[in-house]
Amino acid sequence: MTEILTENKAPDKKQVIYSAIQPSGNITLGNYIGALRNFSLFEDKESLFCVADLHSLTVRQDPAQLRKRSQSLAALYIACGLDPEKNVIYCQSHVPQHAELAWILNCYTYMGELNRMTQFKDKSQKHADNINAGLFTYPVLMAADILLYQTNIVPVGLDQKQHVEICRDIAQRFNGVYGDVFQIPEPYIRKTTAKIMSLSEPTKKMSKSDPDESFVSLFDEPDVIRRKIKRAVTDSEAEIRFDPENKPGVSNLLTILSALKNTTIEEVEKELSGLGYGALKEAAAETIVTEFAPIQSRYKEILADKTYLPNILKENAARAQYMALKTLRKVYKKVGLYQP
Ligand code: TYM
Repeated sequence: MTEILTENKAPDKKQVIYSAIQPSGNITLGNYIGALRNFSLFEDKESLFCVADLHSLTVRQDPAQLRKRSQSLAALYIACGLDPEKNVIYCQSHVPQHAELAWILNCYTYMGELNRMTQFKDKSQKHADNINAGLFTYPVLMAADILLYQTNIVPVGLDQKQHVEICRDIAQRFNGVYGDVFQIPEPYIRKTTAKIMSLSEPTKKMSKSDPDESFVSLFDEPDVIRRKIKRAVTDSEAEIRFDPENKPGVSNLLTILSALKNTTIEEVEKELSGLGYGALKEAAAETIVTEFAPIQSRYKEILADKTYLPNILKENAARAQYMALKTLRKVYKKVGLYQP
């Protein structure tokens, strides 16, 4: 299995690409740099990008907020440049085959495997009053998402690597019994941007479920972005140097800058050498503001048209269902479900 693909490895255009994001909070700069921004690397008629609304139910959601955030994330995919005519942009709950395949795969997944999932352990701690069965079997639903479409490549951040690995294990186990039913997917994780860190606690991953000041949201206004970056935790030295171990805050800002500017960290270090942290923060904030401005204005345009997005989502759900049914029928037949 390819551990972490290098940035130079060009994706093969003919492959099926699949990824998803949960509409469970503000979409962060971490989601954007670690995942969303990489989706367009694969822009191709076989790419599917999903609003993982069913996954969000593993944590209690406000129903009205969830509905709003689901539309918002779909609009954001398009605003980030993914063409909904070429890519299948859809909501998970509009394609019932996800839940159907997940049930079957549940019967081919071991409790022991699920017990090892670090995200389950983390989320159980965070939501100790609601450790539900869905939270435990979450990776099985994610495996169903990926396997339904005979996916080759799954672009994600580092925190999802373990989930893609269990998906591969389930698929290999199933194929071992029934023959080549599922394509075995590979994760695509960019080495340098696999884990964008929290602004307030730079040794922790930036997460949409953490306090507002710890992340930049794709919907933040320029002044909010500037304020949050200005307050980002750095260190007591004054040297702009990439050293994640000893200088996590500064290294995180360098990572963000180099990712958004499409340059190497060394180049950014060189550009800012001799300057203070104020200059680093200003450069980071302005780069983020410039990157987000066109996305935010396209996003507003998309939502201003009341019929555009619902129509796109309906059409794309039908396209996804057509693809998903092909796999599901094969699975039903293989496992012996009677289909008159
Ligand atoms: P989610 O919604 O938590 O995050 C969406 C994507 O953003 C990446 N990511 C990050 N990357 C770098 N630095 C960060 N700080 C950071 N935070 C988040 C995540 O790795 C992810 O790629 N289970 C998935 C959603 C999902 C999915 C799928 C993904 C459901 N089905 C099928 C791929 C394929 C999740 O909760 O991602």
